[in-house]
Amino acid sequence: MARHLITSALPYINGIKHLGNMVGSMLPADVYARYLRQRGHDVLYVCATDEHGTPAELAAKEAGLPVAEFCAQQHEAQKAVYDGFHLAFDYFGRSSSPQNVEITQRVARSLHAGGFIEERAIRQVYSLADGRFLPDRYIVGTCPHCGYDKARGDQCENCTRVLDPTDLVDARSAISGSSELEVRETRHLFLLQSKLAHEVEAWIDAVGGEWPTLASSIARKWLTEGLQDRAITRDLEWGVPVPADTWPELAAEGKVFYVWFDAPVEYIGATKEWADHAPAERDWESWWYRAEDVRYTEFMAKDNVPFHTVMFPAIQLGTREPWKKVDYVKAFNWLTYYGGKFSTSQKRGVFTDAALELLPADYWRYFLMAHAPESDDTSFTWELFTATVNKDLADTLGNFVNRVLSFSRKRFGDEVPAGAPAGPAEERLGAEIAELLTEYQEQLDALQFRKAAQALRALWSAGNVYLEEKAPWLEIKTDQDAAALTLRTAMNLIHLYAIVSEPFIPASARAMRDAFALDGDTATWVTPEQARALTAVPAGTPFTVPPVLFAKISEDDLAAYRERFGGAEE
Ligand code: MF3
Ligand code: ZN
Repeated sequence: MARHLITSALPYINGIKHLGNMVGSMLPADVYARYLRQRGHDVLYVCATDEHGTPAELAAKEAGLPVAEFCAQQHEAQKAVYDGFHLAFDYFGRSSSPQNVEITQRVARSLHAGGFIEERAIRQVYSLADGRFLPDRYIVGTCPHCGYDKARGDQCENCTRVLDPTDLVDARSAISGSSELEVRETRHLFLLQSKLAHEVEAWIDAVGGEWPTLASSIARKWLTEGLQDRAITRDLEWGVPVPADTWPELAAEGKVFYVWFDAPVEYIGATKEWADHAPAERDWESWWYRAEDVRYTEFMAKDNVPFHTVMFPAIQLGTREPWKKVDYVKAFNWLTYYGGKFSTSQKRGVFTDAALELLPADYWRYFLMAHAPESDDTSFTWELFTATVNKDLADTLGNFVNRVLSFSRKRFGDEVPAGAPAGPAEERLGAEIAELLTEYQEQLDALQFRKAAQALRALWSAGNVYLEEKAPWLEIKTDQDAAALTLRTAMNLIHLYAIVSEPFIPASARAMRDAFALDGDTATWVTPEQARALTAVPAGTPFTVPPVLFAKISEDDLAAYRERFGGAEE
């Protein structure tokens, strides 16, 4: 048994997320966490809403609410959707929590003590039309590196390069669109990343070799572009205040930390939130401080990689304290909507709340993971979604479960029939199942979700092939015992599917397990060797036939979805 710490990039508070966010962070983390828990590991999966920064302030303004109230509401709204997706976080916290304020300030003090934070007077962009300093991401213009014309002042979304707002060509305010910008002097704290560059590089050399190329190549690209000193405070109302004991003047001026400074610290903060709910039995420090025995895996989309592989580790290293650093970075490409962008602001694509109104979570979970954008961007289309659901879930899995259970009940009643002892066909099936399960485990251990989904589908198919070969509906005409053996074996497959499908489709897995009245039944994993025997559900076990697990999506439904959400046209 190992200790696994798992985090997924914290979703911004400013609105309900679309399916692209879900597949690139929270969902795969949940699949992985569920799998490791089933295998008996000690798992802690934390996530939280990322609540600070200008996006939150502006969204609150638009909603006509005080920002604290807006964030409290949005946190609950997002949490409800994630519950609906059956995301089994150990804790879903808030980056505005007192715990995060405390730890962020502590981290800043340590960095200061180590000589890695410096106060500097800088000249910052002030918008006359908006009457305020503009945070980097609210200045837009043309990227000097790639020419993308909607680059933000902090980072170019197109080429992922980090920018300074003054680098932008034709800069304007993203709030008012005004180009009446003026540079004024103000004082801020700077993180001296340049002094930490060599250490970060040595650390990446030591651990990054194991990461997928997508993560390690982005990390290296950032390093070679040079780790520059970076302002880590802002003139905003809402954020983690600069601690007055260390920087009294800046605190008096109301400076707060930059959102990307406190957000990753919330991984630690959320763990403390979790622990504070049951202090007698939970301990946050054992996961984060001198936690050499913990394996830490992070999930995120590719635009988040630089912050997680370079900036956050630099912060951790600079504290000169033994904070747990990431061991494995699982990064994702983009999920597109018919080849174009999912866009929160332009309401293009499918949002997570709307998805759940249409169909149960398992349909989405399976589809998204089976087509996860791992090696490349992948495109969501209603046609692909429909084909995947109908073929894999409705035909291959759902139909198998229903056919086997209803037929057996009709011919043999409400208990698993005994029948003949296993023969050569069952032996062959067992060997094949053991092999496919080994493959499935290997892919999950390697965090290769598409390939894992393929192996899972192959396990489901093996049952169909066996059933077609044995054809119990024919066997029963001549040999009751032979038919009973086939059905008992198929029911054992259903029980196995219930266990191994749980990470991907937890609600349906539960329904499959609940079909059998087995004492003390748990979702604990089975090894390929145990699976081979196909005897976990003995003859005589009472069972029920669950309602249809997956309804097929009809041509009419498909047409209606296309119509409502927009289809192929750009
Ligand atoms: N909110 C950010 C995003 O959606 C991710 C923050 S991840 C963390 O891109 F490291 F800050 F926690
Ligand atoms: Zn660019």
